[in-house]
Amino acid sequence: MIIGCSGGQDFARKLAQHLSETYSSLTVSHFPDGEMLVRLMNDVKGKRVVLVQRFFGDVSNQILEVMFAAHALRDLGAKKVVLVAPYMPYMRQDTRFHSGEVVSQRAFAQLCDSFFDVVVTVDPHLHRIRSLPDVFSCQSVVISSDTALSTFIKKKYRDVVILGPDLESYQWAERVASLLQVPFRVLEKKRHSSRRVTVTLNEPYNFSGKTVVLIDDIVSTGHTLLEAVTLVKKFKPEKIIAVVVHGLFVEDALHKLQKAGVTVFATNTLVTDVSRIDVSLLVAEKLKKRR
Ligand code: R5P
Repeated sequence: MIIGCSGGQDFARKLAQHLSETYSSLTVSHFPDGEMLVRLMNDVKGKRVVLVQRFFGDVSNQILEVMFAAHALRDLGAKKVVLVAPYMPYMRQDTRFHSGEVVSQRAFAQLCDSFFDVVVTVDPHLHRIRSLPDVFSCQSVVISSDTALSTFIKKKYRDVVILGPDLESYQWAERVASLLQVPFRVLEKKRHSSRRVTVTLNEPYNFSGKTVVLIDDIVSTGHTLLEAVTLVKKFKPEKIIAVVVHGLFVEDALHKLQKAGVTVFATNTLVTDVSRIDVSLLVAEKLKKRR
């Protein structure tokens, strides 16, 4: 059974369809004092139940919602409780950057461990921590969006060169370029603050007349991509496209990128105006193998 939580209903419906499994919703209401009440709408006894939630916006309540739902599932005899989080939150705070700070990635993982048998996600932001089992004790399944990204690019563009805006994007840039059999370059980024970065091209490439496709896992404020755009524009490319996995697009980032002349696309791990790349089939295929 697939249950769509407040942020994951459309994605959950697609999974249910791909897997030919029952879709069920979760009813979320609030008491007058604001406390949350979740209610399962179907019998779950003996079933593998997949909760689907997108964690963006009201993240704290979204987390509480899936944890309450998972608690109810166990209480009512579900055989296995799986969380599908197409975008896994709190992955970037993977170390204590300043004294006294929480390492949110580890804290979030511990919460998941106590509520879920399995967590499933798409391209989690893994930087200093290289793999999910390093932080999650429950089973973790990672889905790569590479094939969806490259198929999308192949259908729409010719004479492409892939550009990763920083070393962390290397893995996506390299894999997508290799699937498309096109050249790629990766910039070096220096982050000065959350809103100020600088990028440099260390290995020369002439982007002149090319369709430059910027690839990154996350766009947040958009400054990383905007700096890369400024750099690449000097070469007078034919077009600049950005294809990202998780489009957070905070602080009007999408509009800023479009204003800079970039055509932007994201996957549907988050709901945005440009979430044109559907990764639900990739997720369904993994779930099918683990029935
Ligand atoms: C960081 O390493 C990520 O891959 C992204 O490059 C980063 O999160 C983008 O942030 P922003 O859009 O705020 O520059």
